[in-house]
Amino acid sequence: MLISETMNARLNDQINFEQYSAHTYLGMAVALESMGLRVLADYFFKHAEEEREHAMKMIKYVLDVGGKVTMKAIAEPGGDWSSAENIAKQTLDHELEVTRRINDLVALAEQEKDYATRSFLQWYVDEQVEEVSSAEYLLSLIKAAGPQQMLGVEHRVAQMLG
Ligand code: FEO
Repeated sequence: MLISETMNARLNDQINFEQYSAHTYLGMAVALESMGLRVLADYFFKHAEEEREHAMKMIKYVLDVGGKVTMKAIAEPGGDWSSAENIAKQTLDHELEVTRRINDLVALAEQEKDYATRSFLQWYVDEQVEEVSSAEYLLSLIKAAGPQQMLGVEHRVAQMLG
């Protein structure tokens, strides 16, 4: 195995957290759909798929370096999803937490002189810049529009989804 037992365990934790992220965004998508905000719901359905891809990419890496992948229970997502603004706020908080966790993994890789994992993690470091930036933009858009102008937000998000 090319990685330490500790790194293997931490990567498994992150695989679980990426799956939890997918689960969370799926829940948010369903909540948005029930508010009649179909385009925002689609944005979150897509985001959930991306999180699943983040987990898959890490699963493949652990297998490539001869590690062991363990499937743990995915925690039940929680939070107040009663408005689009709350959902956008929690998305930003969630992505900041993911960033903190990725940075901790990078720090461990450097500490262990595990340069293969350090290199692998760079993709996630770069991805988090995008993820946090998108979450900040979505929150600012929703805040600026206010609850009465959500159709404008839907229109803008539709353009972003292409
Ligand atoms: Fe996989 Fe949104 O971080």
